[in-house]
Amino acid sequence: MKVLATRRFPGPAFDELGDVEIGPLEPREDVEVLVVANEPVEGASYPALRLVANFGVGYDRLGVDDLGRRGIAVTNTPGVLDAATADLTWALILATRRRIVEGDRRVRAGEWTGSWADGFLAEELTGSTLGIIGLGRIGSAVARRAEGFDLRVLSTRRSGGTPLDELIAESSIVTIHAPLTSETHGLIDARRLALLRDGACLVNTARGEIVDEDALVAELVSGRIRAGLDVFAHEPHVPEPLLSLPNVVLTPHLGSGTRQTREAMTRIVVDNVLAFERGDELLTPVG
Ligand code: DGY
Repeated sequence: MKVLATRRFPGPAFDELGDVEIGPLEPREDVEVLVVANEPVEGASYPALRLVANFGVGYDRLGVDDLGRRGIAVTNTPGVLDAATADLTWALILATRRRIVEGDRRVRAGEWTGSWADGFLAEELTGSTLGIIGLGRIGSAVARRAEGFDLRVLSTRRSGGTPLDELIAESSIVTIHAPLTSETHGLIDARRLALLRDGACLVNTARGEIVDEDALVAELVSGRIRAGLDVFAHEPHVPEPLLSLPNVVLTPHLGSGTRQTREAMTRIVVDNVLAFERGDELLTPVG
């Protein structure tokens, strides 16, 4: 079976794929299985394609509807990246709320000259309200970690939970854990960003497109809110005005970026491909 992967994915499981070819997504007559990292797949360019095994839980960029119409199966890697993504969310909450990156820059720039008692105050985390948009697997892992910080937790779910506008207006920290779909695209628009309290902190480790990025940049430039951002609408592009702002912490889509988690993701990818080769049921089909 002809397998093409867009890169070598981390961990020993990848070697079980045997003679997998590593290469770019270019039209190919012979490819039957593609292994990608949420990269758009043009089904028409692969007439023999039967399976797209996605390295990642999110598959919003693949074009699953078109692939489905062509009878091409798609798998993803759910479950194994919840802890790593929740941990990074907390890293961003703490870094943003306690001004850790700003503090680090001050020290390195030689600007820490007076006493610790002279200013540079942040906002307390303990006792504040955390709003979780999307209480799925990752959102729930974030909520469990909130217990240790004595936070009041509000959340929205697919059905029920706190109404979104109310959650945004009542929380000092809002964190996004929804998948990118036609319903969540632009969900946090300019009107909803304006509902954030002065000094509130928005954290996004889900997808950049869930937030109106221009409106977010305007709010951050005004200095009214703070943000911890791991994802952006046009990755790897990061809006230029953000680069010099002290009130935003930026990371390069690191949510699942631990060795253990990425290797576990590769394991699921490979198990799906091997199951497909044997003619067995796929482990984690999408849809
Ligand atoms: C995913 O799996 O969709 C993540 O964005 C990767 O960290």
